[in-house]
Amino acid sequence: MKISIILSAIYTALPLSVFSETVYTGDIISGHKVISKLDISDLPYNSLTKLWLRMTKSHVGQHLHVPILVAKGASDGKRIVFNSGIHGDELNGIRVVQRVFKDIDTSKLKGAVIGIPGSNVNGLYNERREFYSSFESGILTNLNRRFPGNSTARLDPDKYVSILWDNIYNTNNINVVCDFHTQTSNYKFPNFVYADYRVPYVKTMAELTGADIIKIDDGTSALGSIEVVNDNSGRPSITYELGSPLLFQKDQIQRAYDYSFRLMTDLQLYPPTTDKESIDSFQQFKSKTFSGNAFGFAEIDSGGFVERYVDLLEPVKKGQIVGSTFNVFGDKIKDIINEHDGIVTSIGTSPLAIAGDYIVNTIYFSKDPKCSDGGC
Ligand SMILES: *[C@@H]1O[C@H](CO)[C@@H](O)[C@H](O)[C@H]1NC(C)=O
Ligand SMILES: [Zn+2]
Repeated sequence: MKISIILSAIYTALPLSVFSETVYTGDIISGHKVISKLDISDLPYNSLTKLWLRMTKSHVGQHLHVPILVAKGASDGKRIVFNSGIHGDELNGIRVVQRVFKDIDTSKLKGAVIGIPGSNVNGLYNERREFYSSFESGILTNLNRRFPGNSTARLDPDKYVSILWDNIYNTNNINVVCDFHTQTSNYKFPNFVYADYRVPYVKTMAELTGADIIKIDDGTSALGSIEVVNDNSGRPSITYELGSPLLFQKDQIQRAYDYSFRLMTDLQLYPPTTDKESIDSFQQFKSKTFSGNAFGFAEIDSGGFVERYVDLLEPVKKGQIVGSTFNVFGDKIKDIINEHDGIVTSIGTSPLAIAGDYIVNTIYFSKDPKCSDGGC
């Protein structure tokens, strides 16, 4: 009793700002409160909250705002973040977050789930991958290489990222992060996961997707991504690629929706689904998942018109002609030869290609020790 009296004396003596708590700016947009700081612990139990996180100002002096959904359960438990749209042309994940939060029953939830239906609102305005800043003659930044951001950086993309990092990922005692993507404009993926198996729980997270393809990946090609920086901060994370950009693909969205609840169940946040279709389709998908640790790219060395002769998830052989390039008169420039036996895991959708473009991207399993963690 003595201790509690002393403690309460200390608490009242300290200024409020010492405590982590949600800061409301006082503004309301479309009926929802604007915050500059989020602390889930002061939200009510058994509640769904829709907020706007105040971001950097644009070049016309207006704040950008990122929509945040918080489902807080009836009691405490683990905490998950489902992010989407850090690339502004990747939309399937946004619909996943919207649907999960529409259907989640917080009275059955233990713990908390944060959903971000479109974290790069600047990129979404422009329907493109990057964050546009009008600095100098205009720069485009891939935000998913800038985490954890920097609040004192000169340019706004780094400041913007730091607001997400400081309010969502690196605070609030988050345990697990799933970052939804799709392929970028002019390319397509199947249902595909990047996962760093060296990080505890990531292999389980990846296998629970039932994805068509899992790329075992050490993250060296995506430093500064939400996945890699969370992995390195002790929060297991995957990048979950849901098909094609600039679309709502119902099948991809359904797979990630079902996955979101499966992940919550695995982490003891939510009771298991009883939906037979969801259970059966997961078993079927899971039995067909291909895991590889190496990519093969069939690239071209000059611009031209491209015909592709293979499609997603087709097995291809070393030496196989997977496409050809043509000049504007229709004369063949060259055939494109595939260099590894593997499965087509990503492919361009535009017939116009430029030097350095890959015509197909295959995945395979390499026994080379340097590829064992997925650095190939
Ligand atoms: C953040 O940006 C400032 C200004 O450019 C720089 O001095 C500082 O080193 C940066 N911090 C980090 C952690 O990179
Ligand atoms: Zn992406």
